[in-house]
Amino acid sequence: MKCRSKNATLIALAIASVIAPAGAFAQAEQVVLIGNAGPLTGGAAHWGKDNENGARLAIEDLNKKGLVIGGKKVRFELVSQDDQADPRHAMLVANKLVDTGVKGVLGHFNSGAAIPASSIYSRAGIPDISVATNPQLTQQGLKNTFRIIASDDDVGVALAQFAVKELKASKVAVIDDRTAYGQGAASVFAKAVKAQGATIVSEQFASDRATDFMAILTTIKSKQPDIIFYGGMDAQAGLIARQMKQLGIKAKLLGTDGLCTSEVAKISAGAVDGMLYCTRGGKELDKMPRGAEFEKRYKGRFNTEVLSYAPYLYDSMMTLAAAMQAANSVEPAQYLPAVAKVDYEGITGTIRFDEKGNLKQPGFTVFTYQQSKRVRVAGS
Ligand code: ALA
Repeated sequence: MKCRSKNATLIALAIASVIAPAGAFAQAEQVVLIGNAGPLTGGAAHWGKDNENGARLAIEDLNKKGLVIGGKKVRFELVSQDDQADPRHAMLVANKLVDTGVKGVLGHFNSGAAIPASSIYSRAGIPDISVATNPQLTQQGLKNTFRIIASDDDVGVALAQFAVKELKASKVAVIDDRTAYGQGAASVFAKAVKAQGATIVSEQFASDRATDFMAILTTIKSKQPDIIFYGGMDAQAGLIARQMKQLGIKAKLLGTDGLCTSEVAKISAGAVDGMLYCTRGGKELDKMPRGAEFEKRYKGRFNTEVLSYAPYLYDSMMTLAAAMQAANSVEPAQYLPAVAKVDYEGITGTIRFDEKGNLKQPGFTVFTYQQSKRVRVAGS
C-alpha cells in the first residue's frame, strides 16, 4: 500500500511539472529575509538566544498563516547574526545583513551595538525595530529606527523615584560597565536620584567583562551608601550581589533591564533575595494581553523559559509583517511609512510609535527577588 501511494505521489508530481507553466512554482512563493542581530556568544548570549527565539516563533506563525503580499505568497526566513555585543562587530554584521538583502531588521540588542548599526540600516533604508534602551537610539533623527520598549530615560527616572520614596535612599553609589547602555543608564539614574534630593557618594566603573568587584565595593563600603546602582548586565550584577554579601555591605543593589532576569539570581547564588531591585519597560509576561499563552507556546517550542524580551521580538516581527500587509509590499521603501503609522495589538500591548520611533505608552515594572524568583513590587 505504502509503495503504491508513494508511486501515485511521484506520478502526480511528474504530471504537475509537465502541465505547469514555466516558472509557476518559483513565482508561487517569495522568500523575504529578515535580519536578527544580537549577542549569541559571550556573557549576554542568553539574551541573544531569547530574542532570536521570539523572532523565530513569530516567523513560524506567519509562515503557517501564509500571508499574501503584493499578490505573492510570502515565506519569511530569519537570518540571525552574532554581534558579540560589540560595537565594531555589530557594524560588520549590519553590513553583512544589508548585503544579504534583508527587508527588515530585528535588533540589535545591546545599545552599544544597536546605535552604530542603526545608521547602516538607515543608509540602506531598512526598517529596524530594537529593544535597545539607550535613549540615543531614537534621538539620531533616523526615520527607519524604532524602539518597541521603554527607554532608560523612562525606567531610570521611575526607579530613582522608587529608590527615594519607597526605599528611603539618601546616599547613593553608582557603578557602570562603560558600555553605552551601562553608562547611559547610570547617568540617567544619578541625575534623577539627585533631583529627588539624594546624594551621590561614590561613582565607579568597571568593564562589561569584569568578574572581580572587590576593590570597587570596598571603596564604596567606606561611603556607607543606602543603595548601589549598577549600570550593566546580569552576568556582572550577579557577581556584584555575591561580593556585596561577602563584604557585608547592607546596601540594596539597583539596576535597569540588563540585570533584571532569572540569570542574575542564579549567578548571585541567592544573594539577590530582598536586596536587588530592578526595573524594565512593559508589564510582567502574565499580565500581558496574551502573555500566558505566549509563555506556554514558547516553552513548548524551545524547551526553556522566556528570559526577557522574546515577546517583544515576536511583536517586532509581527509589526513588520503588519506594515508590509498595510503597504501591500515587502520592499523597505514602500512599507517603512506603514511601520511609522502602525497600530498593532501585540502580545506585549499596543504597538504604536511616536514621531521619533519610540513606543507610545511603554509603561514599566519594578521587581525584587524572593527565593531567587523575580516578583513585582511597583509599576505603571
Ligand atoms: N537594554 C540594554 C541595552 O540597551 C541591555 O543595552
